[in-house]
Amino acid sequence: MDARNGHVSRYSKGMIVIHWVTAVLIVAAWFTAEGGRHVVANPPLLHFSLGLAVLALTVPRLILRVVGQTPPPPDERRAWMALAAKIGHAVLYAFLIGLPLSGWYAASRLGVPVSFFGISLPTIAAPVQGAPGMIADIHENAGTVILYLAGLHALIAGWHHIVLRDGTLRRMSPL
Ligand code: HEM
Ligand code: HEM
Repeated sequence: MDARNGHVSRYSKGMIVIHWVTAVLIVAAWFTAEGGRHVVANPPLLHFSLGLAVLALTVPRLILRVVGQTPPPPDERRAWMALAAKIGHAVLYAFLIGLPLSGWYAASRLGVPVSFFGISLPTIAAPVQGAPGMIADIHENAGTVILYLAGLHALIAGWHHIVLRDGTLRRMSPL
């Protein structure tokens, strides 16, 4: 608790654990990704599982976000900064939901069986012959865009912490 205003000064333990596990999963999903024909011949099952784990964690994360307490912006005088952070985080959340769903869709269109660490999942689109379509293309690009966004997000967090000295990293620190 922050004695100043009765608000919490950090994210909850659950939010912090999910944040860092998700960051590791995204990087691992990126490294295990494959594109094109190779996916049909030899489906990257680990890529699917890691990516679906992101989705599986984002659902409880959003629930925790809504029901729990979130630390208020570090500097209430800078309303524009709080708004920018809100928009930036909303964009990241949109990727955390949209990316795994579009991947699942792409795999379904390619006719590739999807499983989550050995558990078979249903397809969410009918398989097609040939190219899997626009959503699959979007998935392939968005999979890399999220890494850039996360990098920018990390740089901004570092800037807050080191230049503005507002203790931002402490809000998400597991220690
Ligand atoms: C793929 C990687 C990452 C994703 C998808 C991600 C996503 C997010 C999201 C969605 C939030 C908003 C939490 C909320 O208010 O509900 C957040 C907060 C935060 N993230 Fe990340 N993050 C990633 C990596 C990182 C890294 C590498 C750092 C550190 C350098 C970092 C530092 C933080 C901090 C300090 C906050 C709290 C910001 C605040 O209090 O306003 N994140 N992250
Ligand atoms: C959430 C984290 C994810 C990230 C960061 C991610 C990233 C990527 C990237 C970068 C590619 C392009 C690889 C290349 O062209 O060499 C790709 C392709 C692909 N991913 Fe993901 N992905 C994620 C989740 C998923 C999930 C959950 C599934 C399926 C259940 C999936 C299925 C696919 C498929 C089928 C392709 C090939 C699409 C095509 O060839 O048209 N991905 N992914």
